[in-house]
Amino acid sequence: MTVISVIGCGYLGAVHAAAMASIGHDVIGVDVDAERIAALAQYRPPFFEPGLPELLSAGQESGRLAFTTDIGAARAAAVHFVCVGTPQARNGLGADMAFVDAAVDSLLPQLDTGDLVVGKSTVPVGTAERLAPAIRERGAELAWNPEFLREGHAVEDTLRPSRFVYGVPAGKAGQRAAAKLDEVYADGLEAGISRLTADYATAELVKTAANSFLATKISFINAMAELCEASGADVTVLAEALGMDERIGRAFLNAGLGFGGGCLPKDIRAFMARADELGADQAVGFLREVDAINLRRRERTVDLARQELDGSVAGRRIAVLGASFKPNSDDVRDSPALDVARMLAREGAQVRVADPQALDNARRVAPELDYATTAAEALTGADLVLLLTEWAEYRDLDPQDAGAAVARRVVVDGRNALDPHRWRSAGWTYRALGRP
Ligand code: UDX
Repeated sequence: MTVISVIGCGYLGAVHAAAMASIGHDVIGVDVDAERIAALAQYRPPFFEPGLPELLSAGQESGRLAFTTDIGAARAAAVHFVCVGTPQARNGLGADMAFVDAAVDSLLPQLDTGDLVVGKSTVPVGTAERLAPAIRERGAELAWNPEFLREGHAVEDTLRPSRFVYGVPAGKAGQRAAAKLDEVYADGLEAGISRLTADYATAELVKTAANSFLATKISFINAMAELCEASGADVTVLAEALGMDERIGRAFLNAGLGFGGGCLPKDIRAFMARADELGADQAVGFLREVDAINLRRRERTVDLARQELDGSVAGRRIAVLGASFKPNSDDVRDSPALDVARMLAREGAQVRVADPQALDNARRVAPELDYATTAAEALTGADLVLLLTEWAEYRDLDPQDAGAAVARRVVVDGRNALDPHRWRSAGWTYRALGRP
């Protein structure tokens, strides 16, 4: 059992704190946001994440998990995880490092000799090297241990990640740091999860490279969707066939509206900015194209809407199903669905958006749109239906029932989530991205 502090209790930190308590560690979660801490203390995560409320209550009831705004509480811990955000900077593509720097600054006076600070935030390569000297001055050590969690699967991804990556310094200090992390992650290691030790820069790059690869895979299939549109081919069948080659793999080849969220878009942009600083911008120039292909899918969806409404969406009623950037999440950061809804509203459409979880967040960032609490309400009287986030309840919609609610039976499937045959049989005009 290790006494752990987690600095930053947003998505990553709250899940990490609760997950570490669930495997027997003593955990104190610290955040500067008093509202967030109060919510977590009442077992209410400030975001939707399956399984997390249960872990928060079990942890706090067992006495192994607590939350506070007082950084002084970190004194009691021997291992300190830095889990604050690195959002896209306001004035450029790079990551805003203010939260990481502030977290480490506030942590320094709390460190004892022999403590280990563990960075988990996604950072530009070179960050650990920059932060390490001040930590060593306190007699403590720094490790970089990137996370790969997906929203909606955050608990399982934290407890059973695909791999543990430790970025540690060379020599004895690094071995001691790795041994401490092995104690923290003993549960996962015993379950057979691989562990890889590297230098700081490599560990930092693993995370950015992985997200860049995933984004590239999605944009690759979406580029093929553009070719399918130009040639009359079907991207869903193409993806199926490509995926049967083990070297390619079927995962992350779902063509549609493309990627959004708090990670992939900002991570590829920050990677380009950092590569530029390092004089290696040519190496990741293709990511500019990955970003551009991704954003073009949103325009294509708006085009399809225009086409189906005889050239203009102005004054027409459009039902948008989905506001979150992906299903099983209430996160609307860089959400393709919400972006398309706003583009349509700017062209004068009467857009009504439904989402099972993300309405509160959507209302906050896009107050100009109309919202409906159920799909049925959004569909009523619609001239056009857009499926933009593939929640299970939207996939399972009955085309007959939906047809009875709308004014015109026209659907644009932005996620290739509906069965075209079923919808066409029910009298719908079915349009999708990358399909004839
Ligand atoms: C991602 C990475 O998967 C995770 O490892 C990393 O730690 C954080 O970033 P997340 O942002 O939660 O996780 O979402 P993910 O499930 O990867 O989906 C990202 C976006 O890509 C979503 O908007 C999703 O709709 C889209 N996507 C995904 C596709 O358009 N097609 C696909 O085939 C897969």
